Amino acid sequence: MIDERMVSELVELAQGARSNSYAPYSRYRVGAAVLAESGKVYTGANVENSSYGLSVCAERVAIWKAVSEGERRILAVAVATENGGTPCGACRQVMSEFGSGDMPVLIVDADGLKQRFRLDELLPEAFSGSDLLHDSEPG
Ligand code: THU
Repeated sequence: MIDERMVSELVELAQGARSNSYAPYSRYRVGAAVLAESGKVYTGANVENSSYGLSVCAERVAIWKAVSEGERRILAVAVATENGGTPCGACRQVMSEFGSGDMPVLIVDADGLKQRFRLDELLPEAFSGSDLLHDSEPG
């Protein structure tokens, strides 16, 4: 559970992170803020490339910043766009690696908080490390 003060903080930080978006190709600016277990918040923005497939979403930038600083669990994610778009499938899967099914995912548009989901609403029946067969099947 996160309190409403933290919800507001994540919303504002995600909106602020949008200003660092590098999106000259799509012109779709995205900002993200991730609350990690340590209590620290990590922000990210989408970073595009002229070789389009190399572009990275804001959510993954924020999560990779957190994990590369030593975090292993995330407690909430906020994603800010102009129109309140929801996270792509790849980002939902990356969220599920580090967050639980009941983790709040806050969808933010230009006016503020628009929708609030649990991660397992956005990614039901997620594939996870526990689905990997280790000893039972030959490699
Ligand atoms: N994008 C994100 O940053 N997050 C999402 O969840 C959806 C898409 C970015 C990727 C690309 O830079 C732009 O939005 C258009 O797809």
